Amino acid sequence: MALEPLEIVKNVYWVGAVDWEERDFHRFEIHRGTTYNAYLIVDEKTALIDTVKDEFFGEMAARIRKIVDLSEIDYVVSNHVEMDHSGSLPKIMKLAEKAVVVCTEAGKKGLCRYYHECEAWNFRTVKTGDELKLGKKTLMFLEMPMLHWPDSMATYIKEDRLLMPNDAFGQHVASAERFDEELGIEEALKWAKIYYANILMPFGDLVRRKLEEVVRLGLAIEMIAPSHGIIWKNPSKIIEAYRRWASFQAEAKLVTVYDTMWGSTFLLAKAIVEGAESEGVEARLFHVRKDCWAEILTEILDSKGLAIGSPTVHNGMFPPVAGFLAYLKSLKPRNKVAVAFSSYGWGGGASKEITKLLQDLKFEVLPALDVQYRPTAEDLDKAFSLGRKLAEKIKGSL
Ligand code: FEO
Repeated sequence: MALEPLEIVKNVYWVGAVDWEERDFHRFEIHRGTTYNAYLIVDEKTALIDTVKDEFFGEMAARIRKIVDLSEIDYVVSNHVEMDHSGSLPKIMKLAEKAVVVCTEAGKKGLCRYYHECEAWNFRTVKTGDELKLGKKTLMFLEMPMLHWPDSMATYIKEDRLLMPNDAFGQHVASAERFDEELGIEEALKWAKIYYANILMPFGDLVRRKLEEVVRLGLAIEMIAPSHGIIWKNPSKIIEAYRRWASFQAEAKLVTVYDTMWGSTFLLAKAIVEGAESEGVEARLFHVRKDCWAEILTEILDSKGLAIGSPTVHNGMFPPVAGFLAYLKSLKPRNKVAVAFSSYGWGGGASKEITKLLQDLKFEVLPALDVQYRPTAEDLDKAFSLGRKLAEKIKGSL
């Protein structure tokens, strides 16, 4: 364990763990690992804010022991039930015998569904605005239901103006650096955008309302310490980015996603991209089985245009495209002009299924382009024209 506990503000220590090896976070492909950030507050009372994934308990415990003995912990604040943050709770509660678990009512229910030993734990459930005095420092709690689970909440240290919002504002990136300025603010924002697109995109309205609530409550924020990735010493950068992402602001960009069996759908995809580029619209092309879905969704987050292509198999979509669209649908992107395109042998059907899904997402959907077997020169002209039409729509609606 190379990393020492790190004092992020006076008497508040990062005691989490860096997971250098994780690449698949419940189907969210992460390229550079992640961190599980837990924070120890040392005052007249000692509080641990969140824990780490079970397999990293030893690392976290060793870091805490460099500051206090585990038996001295008075409160374990569980901002979120999900097991990357609560996984070490049963082991902590065995060693921190006097500790009280502080969480929302939904948090208590969730923890007890996961950890049946919870019957032996003392709980203190909290609501927005509730405070817990530790000595010189005061914790205030802010419920954040569905950001991104019903139990989620943030903990705010009033005197330090430090917000610990758990998953919100996080990033899946493993690094030896703990602060935005060390990793590089632009680099940190890049990872935060990937994280937002793949975890928080469905909750844009809630994110906006929560940011307004923080303003209404008059919470000054000088630092944001999330539960994944780096800590924001420049909170305005990430708050501003969240405002933008949560409002589904779109750019003059077309994302084309396709799969292909014998190259026909690829030829259509390429012609669509070239058509859009000829109109000065930025175009991105992704292969469903070769490119990372998390990256594709990050591009889709702020693209105005979306084209989805699939070969037809058994009168429907090629299964990898269907899988990708299930992922897309679950993340509820908004504010797009979209189109389906497909190749088929006899009956057709893929573009019909894709069009239906795009309509269900309430996009403006253009008529699909279908081509039998191999596209002719005329078919490719049609695909190029479709790309130009998409580009015109994109530019016209921004
Ligand atoms: Fe990082 Fe929702 O867990």
